[in-house]
Amino acid sequence: MARKPLIAGNWKMHLTVAQGVELAEQLAPVADAYSDREVMVAPPFTALHAVTAAVKGSKLHVGSQNVCWEKQGAFTGEISPVMLQDLHVGMAIIGHSERRQIFGESDEMINKRVLGALEHGLVPVFCIGETLEEREADKTFTVLEQQITDGLQGVNEKQMESVVIAYEPVWAIGTGKTATKEQAQEVHAFIRQLLEEKMNKNVAKRVRILYGGSVKPENVDALMAQPDIDGALVGGAALQFESFSRIIKFT
Ligand code: 13P
Repeated sequence: MARKPLIAGNWKMHLTVAQGVELAEQLAPVADAYSDREVMVAPPFTALHAVTAAVKGSKLHVGSQNVCWEKQGAFTGEISPVMLQDLHVGMAIIGHSERRQIFGESDEMINKRVLGALEHGLVPVFCIGETLEEREADKTFTVLEQQITDGLQGVNEKQMESVVIAYEPVWAIGTGKTATKEQAQEVHAFIRQLLEEKMNKNVAKRVRILYGGSVKPENVDALMAQPDIDGALVGGAALQFESFSRIIKFT
């Protein structure tokens, strides 16, 4: 079964409710028109409800930017998977490098989030990536292997088929420095090989691996033409209709 490309927009800490609804309403018909690919937007928590309501009935997926592993309780500042289900949010970005670096989320915590999401039927968009320092020290593959081993601990083969992996080299996020298509493809092929070794060939073939880090209308076509790049996780360029819709329409 061919992997269906997924173009995901991570709005990070941007956009008011009104701006988010306007953008999502513009994007919904584009997502509907391009049925050979999936499109997702991840608004900040404040806009999730309004955005899901605004795009109801369209194919545009709405995701969250994080999710807790517990259903409810004393977890100040967290959002539970059940609360997301209540809003018909079907996907959750987990382990973004900004969560890891700025907010100190560990592989262990990220693993709990992934397992919690899966338990409640949410598709985890599990993010991994090396820093510039790690790349320059030739540690890229070691770091990614560690993040995958620890972050996906306890995920079984069946569950793994619904997990989306997003490779986002930290040095390419918000910097305008995209990994070259060759650099990205090399890492994506490595990740797929690792999935085959850790799970099996079938899982490796089915799991979608997105690239993120300065994806723009100008570079999306070349990235998407790589055999192991199955989509994009877009930050800055996902905040405007013109640029994000062009990215959705990659050829
Ligand atoms: P930019 O596209 O702004 O580099 O951000 C990438 C990203 O972090 C998406 O999650």
